[in-house]
Amino acid sequence: MKTIEDLDVAGKRVFVRADLNVPLSNGSITDDGRIRAVAPTITKLLQAGAKVIVASHLGRPKGEPDPQFSLAPVAVRLGEILAAPVSFATDTVGESAKATVAALADGEVTLLENLRFNAGETAKDDAERGAFADALAGLADLYVGDGFGAVHRKHASVYDLPARLPHAVGDLIATEVGVLKRLTEEVERPYVVVLGGSKVSDKVGVIDNLLGKADRILIGGGMAYTFLAALGHEVGISLLQKDQIPTVLEYLERGKANGVEFVLPVDVAVSGSFPDLKTLAPVADFAVVDADEIPADKEGLDIGPKSRELFAAKLADAKTVFWNGPVGVFEHPEFAEGTKSVAQALLDSDAFTVVGGGDSAAAVRILGFDETKFGHISTGGGASLEYLEGKTLPGLAALEG
Ligand code: 3PG
Repeated sequence: MKTIEDLDVAGKRVFVRADLNVPLSNGSITDDGRIRAVAPTITKLLQAGAKVIVASHLGRPKGEPDPQFSLAPVAVRLGEILAAPVSFATDTVGESAKATVAALADGEVTLLENLRFNAGETAKDDAERGAFADALAGLADLYVGDGFGAVHRKHASVYDLPARLPHAVGDLIATEVGVLKRLTEEVERPYVVVLGGSKVSDKVGVIDNLLGKADRILIGGGMAYTFLAALGHEVGISLLQKDQIPTVLEYLERGKANGVEFVLPVDVAVSGSFPDLKTLAPVADFAVVDADEIPADKEGLDIGPKSRELFAAKLADAKTVFWNGPVGVFEHPEFAEGTKSVAQALLDSDAFTVVGGGDSAAAVRILGFDETKFGHISTGGGASLEYLEGKTLPGLAALEG
């Protein structure tokens, strides 16, 4: 893959596909990690005299403008982080984008509006995607792919556009791929993986692949209840994907056969109702119960204190750790202890620690941990998982050509 240094960017219009898909609450950015992560690439291009056109998606709008998914607040934050003015185009390939790009002087930067406001960005149809990529290509001379979080998407700006312009990989993607290689080639052992998040179905592929690689797999979050149910336990009204039980049973069997230890919660924090994440008011019926004794009318929302100790013990001797997905509803203080304890266990270990996934990366920062103390905090959720599954990622393949 070519890098930025291989391109002659001075005086050129350089399209930077970033992943600025940040969490927003009432129009405010709650975690700017992804903006900060791509800023060095933009700064490098600006210092080299490029006219930089940054583009990204935000959320999942339906192929037409939708104000709640506007990148306008991101343009403001990007300007603060770059300490430079960032102009904002209110469309992607329309009059505003053309005028904003035409107005760029060397060393100046603009951000386009959400790429997914145009149906061509995510279209399944090659011709429709291609037409949007053609229009984007008309804005620029060169392409830098640096939206690691989106490289698993076969989208116009990720997959089709690099084929239309001389291109290079940005520094963020180069770093992310370097780290993930350390998790797939010559892994230092014990290699311990912590998986959380709500759905087993999102993690099926990665577990399948890790069964040949990891030494231990710790399961928390909503997905743990499908594992507990597979072992025949009552899980009350906890998240449960019944259709995944046969797969989970097969994984548990394969784990035994391959010497991969699955570690499940032994106790959980429960409530009869999902906590209010707006008011953060305490739930009326907080309780901790053993994982095989969840009452029929209760929902498991975090791992309990015995599980926290167990998980910490299973992480203590690790030499490599990959963590994807919070192990509880960390946004609410009563159910954040599990996720905090996993983050702390990573900090306490001597392992090379990788936090992958938008949610777990945001959790680490929102819970107040110093992100520089982890080996690497990835900007990719689905992208890191698909890389570890061994899949070909369209956005990386496109940069190779
Ligand atoms: C992410 O948040 O994982 C990336 O920005 C990709 O977003 P998507 O799942 O909506 O394609």
